[in-house]
Amino acid sequence: MTGRHDRIRSLHRRLGGIGFGGDYNPEQWPEEVWAEDARLMKEAGVNLATVGVFSWAGVEPRPGEFDFGWFDRVMDLLAENDVAADLATMTASPPPWLARTHPETLPVTADGTRLWPGGRQHYCPSSPVYRDRAVRLAEQVATRYAGHPALAMWHVGNEYGCHVPACYCDVSAADFRRWLRERHGDIDALNDAWSTGFWSQGYADFEEVQPPRTAPTFPNPAQQLDYARFTDAALRACYLAELEVLRRVTPDVPVTTNLVAAHKEVDAFTWAPHMDVVSLDNYPDPLDAAPEARSALVFDITRGAGAGEPWLLMEQAPSAVNWRRHNAPKRPGQMRLWSWQAVAQGADAVLYFQWRASRGGAEKYHSAMVPHAGPDTRVFKEVSALGAELARVPGVLGARSGNDVALLLDWNSWWALELDSHPAELDQIDEALAYHTPLLRAGIGVDVVPPDRDLSGYRLVVAPCLHLLDEATGARIADHVRGGGHLVVSYFSGIVDGDDRVHLGGYGGPLRPVLGTRTTEFWPLGPGERVELSGDPAGGTDSGGAPGSATLWSEEVLPEGAEPVARFASGDLAGGPAVTRHRFGDGVATYVATRPDPLWLRALLERAARDAGAEPVLADLPEGVQATRRHGAEETFTFLLNHTGQDRAVALPEPMTDLLADAAATTQVTLPPRGVAVLVPEHWDR
Ligand code: GLA
Repeated sequence: MTGRHDRIRSLHRRLGGIGFGGDYNPEQWPEEVWAEDARLMKEAGVNLATVGVFSWAGVEPRPGEFDFGWFDRVMDLLAENDVAADLATMTASPPPWLARTHPETLPVTADGTRLWPGGRQHYCPSSPVYRDRAVRLAEQVATRYAGHPALAMWHVGNEYGCHVPACYCDVSAADFRRWLRERHGDIDALNDAWSTGFWSQGYADFEEVQPPRTAPTFPNPAQQLDYARFTDAALRACYLAELEVLRRVTPDVPVTTNLVAAHKEVDAFTWAPHMDVVSLDNYPDPLDAAPEARSALVFDITRGAGAGEPWLLMEQAPSAVNWRRHNAPKRPGQMRLWSWQAVAQGADAVLYFQWRASRGGAEKYHSAMVPHAGPDTRVFKEVSALGAELARVPGVLGARSGNDVALLLDWNSWWALELDSHPAELDQIDEALAYHTPLLRAGIGVDVVPPDRDLSGYRLVVAPCLHLLDEATGARIADHVRGGGHLVVSYFSGIVDGDDRVHLGGYGGPLRPVLGTRTTEFWPLGPGERVELSGDPAGGTDSGGAPGSATLWSEEVLPEGAEPVARFASGDLAGGPAVTRHRFGDGVATYVATRPDPLWLRALLERAARDAGAEPVLADLPEGVQATRRHGAEETFTFLLNHTGQDRAVALPEPMTDLLADAAATTQVTLPPRGVAVLVPEHWDR
């Protein structure tokens, strides 16, 4: 029996170093162009190409009639040129004949609009017809290319749920009822879980239950929560059906699917165990205030999904995308920096969408490794330079990262947090960023993990807006603190159970004993509203210290054993606790009942990390420099990334050599703007 480790080892052998390449769509070009593609791939250092993602119509032009001849030539071309194939199962965009023969496979939105072919991903995930045709195709593809010298990895579907995260058609409704029967058993249990005593919603029979389609006012939140779980499961079932074929036909070939970054509809933590290696598509917006901070969170989520194992950056743009309102190019050096950022945070491959810019179609203005203007361009030169540079650090392949700090993210809680009719609109990713970014700036490495993960290895656990929390998970978190762990929790956490019902007796629910607080009333702040804070975030007392302020949220907190660290110093809650600290067993729990300004929060988190014994990667990191570590089989790599537009000097604890520079070992590196260093201790004998 081949296991995951064997499959990954064979992929590593195949690549020989960091994977580099991109989506290759040769069907958009006459075959004469393919030879040039092969030549340019060599020039750019490409060793991995994703092929076949949108090839369904090409290989199965009529139902059940397969034409693989042209695709054989694509695979042969890759093999001849030593480019490994990340071969798609080709099921992401059904061909027109499927909609013609089976219009019921087309998805429907919550307001009843049918989504027609002409774009892509026009299938209902619950459709048995779609699943059957997709599995049939996957079987054909797997059988044909099993043993092909180019085949290195399977790429199932593509970005599940990116355009159609949920379908509300009658086929989906029936599948939802089946799923509900399995989850709740009988209709009384469903009525109880969904609190249907409210607004006359009691059901007598499962057949009366519908998806949460557009309703006159807020649909039942527990119904919406279950629908989020169900649609995630329906998409996953499509993936699993294809996976079953691949495991059977090619048990030794690793399997992945590319996850969309921070995609609410697809729970990366429950999908990842079904992949040999987790893959991510990441498209930071160069016009954002801090694109690298969002990427940093997303990369940590991806690595966390794979339980700390390396992952693959399956797609990024070489420069601009085409799908935002304004599509800024990546500025010189930005693509390199952000690619290294992925590697620094655990990526074993850097791939792009796409190899050659399309001449026609909806994505013709999306940048590509080979732009419309050809290889004599800034983009192709930067791409090729990166290819050559990545090849200098083969030892990074497979190197692991591990950190002392865990940030908890739970998809169920995310779904619940963003349901409507809440005290204020909160965004789970913004809330996570509020905590993740100050830790990033402080150089403290973070693993993002679900709350049911083993937390015992973490010195500090941070839980931003962990809104939905059942008693059992709350008790596990409490045990962790009792045993000496440190915990920081932000507002609106521990509020509801798994069915979105409020824990009674004071907000905080299962976390109340560990936090030593009880919240009695939420006091969200209006847009632009600020409250002053008194107290010292770095010292842990509620007197003295730098004054701070906070936005977005406040609440009436009654200490039940906790000490105030900071108080509200203005507004209706002036004098009341804003941040508290509670010794619980051998550990310490901090509760943050508002959204302090980033610097204030950073001081608080640095103190919490210090108290917990969680060290930064490097001390005294200059502003805007990110530092990470990966532990390889032979050596530890320290990555430094200068996200600023100025030079940054970084002091090192010992003489180190930069693998990307041809310079002697040093105890101080000066990174130019957008500069990168990959450091190993001087003594390492390469
Ligand atoms: C996604 C898709 C690709 C392409 C890119 C464009 O990542 O997987 O097929 O559409 O977006 O950014």
